[in-house]
Amino acid sequence: MSKALANPWAGRFSETMTAGLVAFNTGLPLEERLFESDIDGTHAHIEMLRSVGLLESAEHAALAGALDEIRHEWRSGDIKLQVELEDIHMNLEALLVRKVGELGKKTHTARSRNDQQATAQRIFFMRSTRELVDAIGNFQQALLEHCRQHPDLLMPSYTHLQRAEFTYYAHWLATYVVMLERDRSRFLDALARADQSPLGACASTGTSLPIDRKYSASLLGFREPTLHSIDSVSDRDYLVEFGAHAANLMIHLSRLSEEIISFTSQEFGFLALGDGYCTGSSIMPQKKNPDVPELVRGKSASVIGNAMTLMTLLKALPLGYNKDLQEDKTAWFAALDNCMSSLGILTELVRTMKPLPERMRQALQGGHIIATEYANYLVRKGMPFREAHRVVGELVKLADSRQADISSLPHADFAAASALFSEDIHTITAEDMATRKNSYGSCGGQALGELLAQLQSLLDAHQASRWSVHP
Ligand code: ARG
Repeated sequence: MSKALANPWAGRFSETMTAGLVAFNTGLPLEERLFESDIDGTHAHIEMLRSVGLLESAEHAALAGALDEIRHEWRSGDIKLQVELEDIHMNLEALLVRKVGELGKKTHTARSRNDQQATAQRIFFMRSTRELVDAIGNFQQALLEHCRQHPDLLMPSYTHLQRAEFTYYAHWLATYVVMLERDRSRFLDALARADQSPLGACASTGTSLPIDRKYSASLLGFREPTLHSIDSVSDRDYLVEFGAHAANLMIHLSRLSEEIISFTSQEFGFLALGDGYCTGSSIMPQKKNPDVPELVRGKSASVIGNAMTLMTLLKALPLGYNKDLQEDKTAWFAALDNCMSSLGILTELVRTMKPLPERMRQALQGGHIIATEYANYLVRKGMPFREAHRVVGELVKLADSRQADISSLPHADFAAASALFSEDIHTITAEDMATRKNSYGSCGGQALGELLAQLQSLLDAHQASRWSVHP
């Protein structure tokens, strides 16, 4: 058997990998996204090797120069990674050897592909998750601006999808800004925990060579090295957290999408989407379909599945590196890409979305939506709320029997229901009552103004401190 096997690990083998194994074994198509992160990790590693005397300065300079060239060629599309070399790490080593000869093989001093992969993943994780946090922030900003453009628009608020109370359109939409704020903080929290460098853990129990893990961690902008070498190569908890937070984010986007789909239907007619974000039907000339929110709702299913995949991948895995871990990228990247594309298109969609005030106003006329305020009226006059609820409930029943809204009943019916009703009951309007709902977090103009300002300052604070810790 020839010794000219492609793989650096081929020494103890007497047969080459079969074509079937090469194809089945490689993670390259997905791993290519980590190639530049692997270059970054290798840069830090060789600088650390130089600092502890495991590389001469001249050797370091030659390797660093070669790494920069490889990055440049990669970006220009001049490098095609080879599937026979299994992964990005052995491709990178082969490229280095081609540029600087035997010296290229020194980069694997005090390093294994296990910590190398873990490091490239963490570097990519920190970058891509920060981009995701920024994308959430951009979407929140677009939603907030939309809220501020429509401060006075009343609409029904629903429970059980039945008209319940009146609120402001901006108050309804701002709910999502608040939900997204929780998503953003969950990802920030995951980032803070993941901010550790696995580099130097080697295969799993560390190395007897005199490396400096704190130095390589700091070169890569990590807060500190990971605590334990076996854990460093086995741990993918941060991806489980990512998957769960991504699922939560997509659930939120899906709930918004569902409401947009409903509100743009003829049945509600509260919203119109820009034509550039809708599609038509091949047979029904009148159709304008909300494909964007429908797709977001659909993609949330995949992301929920991705979270499950990541958890299942780890649940019975023994410690140390296991090849199963190659599959982490399938679920992780799919979740990341679906979150990013959904946030991007929804940000554009919201900028073209138009509320239709007339239909909202009409919806406020029916469904006895003022009923709770009539009960509150009686409460203000001293009646216990439970009793007020019953009195108004009976008026609702009466109105229903006449197929009328409670607000159109004549005063005689009110007076018969309770002596506490005076003529001024008929001056109570949705607009009036909505403006008065000013307890903290409510929909009233003042409370809503404060909420929108508070949300804006949260976004501004993030913008100002943006990744000040991590370059
Ligand atoms: N493609 C591998 C992965 O994604 C790279 C790490 C390889 N390590 C190893 N010992 N084979 O996990």
